Amino acid sequence: MNVSNDIIIIGGGLMGLSLAVELQLQGAKVTVLSRNFHEAAGHVAAGMLAPQAEAIPAGPMLELGLRSRALYPEWTRQLEDLTGLDTGYWRCGILAPVYELPETTEIYQPPDSPAIWLDRQAIDQHQPGLGADVVGGWWYPEDAQVDNRRHLLKALQAASKKLGVKILEGVEVEAITRNSKRVEALETNRGTLTGSQYILTTGAWTGQLLPQVPVYPRKGQMLSVKVPDSFESLPLKQVLFGTEIYVVPRRDGLIVIGATLEDVGFNAGLTPDGVQSLLSRAIRVFPVLRDFPLQEFWWGFRPTTPDLLPILGKSPFDNLTLAVGHYRNGILLTPITAKLIAEWVIEEKSDPLLQYFGWERFLTAQLQC
Ligand code: GLY
Repeated sequence: MNVSNDIIIIGGGLMGLSLAVELQLQGAKVTVLSRNFHEAAGHVAAGMLAPQAEAIPAGPMLELGLRSRALYPEWTRQLEDLTGLDTGYWRCGILAPVYELPETTEIYQPPDSPAIWLDRQAIDQHQPGLGADVVGGWWYPEDAQVDNRRHLLKALQAASKKLGVKILEGVEVEAITRNSKRVEALETNRGTLTGSQYILTTGAWTGQLLPQVPVYPRKGQMLSVKVPDSFESLPLKQVLFGTEIYVVPRRDGLIVIGATLEDVGFNAGLTPDGVQSLLSRAIRVFPVLRDFPLQEFWWGFRPTTPDLLPILGKSPFDNLTLAVGHYRNGILLTPITAKLIAEWVIEEKSDPLLQYFGWERFLTAQLQC
């Protein structure tokens, strides 16, 4: 195979597919190289759209998250119209119960994004059935969720195909051939590929292709349970974001529980310790879960950077763009990443926010050491 393409996206997960859709909608001819769709970090997340519940401090990262959360209703509606598929977007709000009273309940509230403190009595009225250790919690009505694993990824695949994106599954890029400041070609397990522009969306595996861009894996184990048929209505209609645990109810009664945060390299698989910690934390915050039938267990690797912020925009090479390192916030940041990176690639327009997420920040850090 020796194929020439306009834009080649390396990585067929959430970032790669959403960028492919955006670029193709804007008239580009896009090819996506996907080594293995099932290893994408988009599977290992519960789909929380939680810039507030994640307690991201005020600054560029919070702004990126809030802008992305605001794009979600229109972005998912467009995908649903294009494909006829549900994305599972649900503006359900997120409740964050705590086990210790905070020093202050006066916290930063972004415009139009309240953060409401509920004491134990108020939180009980808001959500019956919370664990005995809960002393109160925050209610973030603007935070939301999307069903990343069962719906969003499939809708993005379908939209890509419908728009004519060429998705090459099972194609692994083994080396990037460069000539000074430009990428010349990609050496893959199926031969050489060339394009005019390249975009890297390779998640936790980015460092294997571009060692100067520091992205490494942080494993997450997850599981799901189901509301028993004996319940007449859903016992949980909002996300619970607890201490080192989240409990995310879907509208059809599935409840996704996650996730461990493990620095174990690419050490795959579930562990008794991981699963036990998820179950005990989930039952502590919402005890009724202890009797719900278990459905599935899975794991994956979040793409993590030294400062836990994504790497967006330019790369060491003029015709290679980066959209990697989204860590815990990949689902949240998908639409804004697609928008800003498409503008960057097609219009050479740099949104002011991109300056905070450049890969060179790590070069500066290395020089200062
Ligand atoms: N988005 C939450 C996580 O990565 O576990």
